[in-house]
Parts: sequence; structure tokens; C-alpha cells
Amino acid sequence: MQTIIAPSLLSADFTKLGSEIQLLNESRADWIHFDVMDGMFVPNISFGIPILKAVRPLTRKVLDVHLMIEKPERYIQAFKDAGADILTVHQEACVHLDRTLNAIRECGMKAGVSLNPATPVETLQHVLPLADLVLVMSVNPGFGGQKFIPYSLDKIRRLKHMIQEQGLPTLIEVDGGVTKENCASIAQAGAQVLVAGNTVFSANRPQLVIAELQSLCNPSRTA
Ligand code: DX5
Ligand code: ZN
Repeated sequence: MQTIIAPSLLSADFTKLGSEIQLLNESRADWIHFDVMDGMFVPNISFGIPILKAVRPLTRKVLDVHLMIEKPERYIQAFKDAGADILTVHQEACVHLDRTLNAIRECGMKAGVSLNPATPVETLQHVLPLADLVLVMSVNPGFGGQKFIPYSLDKIRRLKHMIQEQGLPTLIEVDGGVTKENCASIAQAGAQVLVAGNTVFSANRPQLVIAELQSLCNPSRTA
């Protein structure tokens, strides 16, 4: 499987969101990553349901929604209605993670579970079959443009091993501090989806950077 690049809208220019989406539509990005923050689970507030609703008709790309909010189970149906394809909740924000992952699938979305840097992957041992995707945070969530935490690579390898041991199709997504310099080693460690915010949107030619990231992760493919 080719590594999927998921640009994070958090770093887009919100004054021209429509053309930013258009730019992604014409790029080699397969998914668009959508970061929702509540100012409680993380120290920052970003955007939410009305913006997702506005974005949905503008793209056929997979909308990959990352909820950095407390008690995310309150909003599962609302995010489905707004157009999310994948809904990822944080393990640390869910008292009843098993129930929440089941509820996301029952609602007709792919279910994702995310781990903060300090949370060990082993905590997912029993719920892995309920998750279509595990999102490994490689920075402390809340802000774009932070530096990749090196021990994340070890977490990705351990998680890959757990997934293979159970014979599951679960995808590993990595979020935070992904650059042209480190993307190949992250993919080699076992990640199939790489989120990139700052690296893509701070560039003069974001589409070129997306193509470069994809080629660096999939050496056989040319940019
Ligand atoms: C951080 C968000 C990330 C963020 C990544 O809390 O979850 O998705 O946009 O941004 P970069 O790629 O700039 O680290
Ligand atoms: Zn994110």
C-alpha cells in the first residue's frame, strides 16, 4: 500500500479556505486532516462542525477528523452529519473507549483512536479490533508546527507488531512534526498515513511538497 499523505487544514489560510481545499483537490493528497480542539482537552481552540459542513461539498477526498475534545461521544452523530469519513477520538478523553469506537462504526464512519505521546501503545491491546486506525501523536496535541518527538518511532514499531500479531488491517497514522527529512523513517517504522500541516502549508508550492513527501515515503514512485 502506498503511504497516504493527509495535509492538516489547521495550517491552511482560513481567509481562503475554498481555494486551499481546491489546491488539495488537485494534489496527490488522498486525505484531508481536520483538527478539532475544544480548549479543554488541549490548550487551544480551532474549528468544528460548521466549518466541516462547509468543507464537505468542496471535496471528494477522505475527510479525516481528529477530535481533540473531552467526551467526544457527545458529537459522533453530529460529525457524521457534517460529512466526516473517519472519526478519531483520543484514548485519554474516553472513559468508555470500547463503547465509543463501536458507536462511531455503527454511525457509518471509520473509527480511529489517538494516543498522546506519553500514552503507551499497549493500552490499546484489547480494543485494537474495534479501530480502523490508530493515530500516534508525535507532538503534544494542540498546535501545528512543533518538533517531532523521536520516541514516537519506537511506539509506531511496537504498535505495528501488535497489529500484525492480531492479524488486523488497522492503519497507523502519525501526526505532528512530519517533514521531508523524517517522513521516510516514519513510514519505514510502520506508518501508512502521515499528517503534515506546517510542512505543506508553509511552503511556496504546497502541491509539490505533498508530491515530494509521497515520493520520499514510496521510493519506487516518482514525484
Ligand atoms: C496538532 C494537530 C496536528 C497538526 C500537525 O495538535 O493534531 O494535526 O496540524 O501540524 P504539523 O504538521 O505542523 O506538526
Ligand atoms: Zn491532528
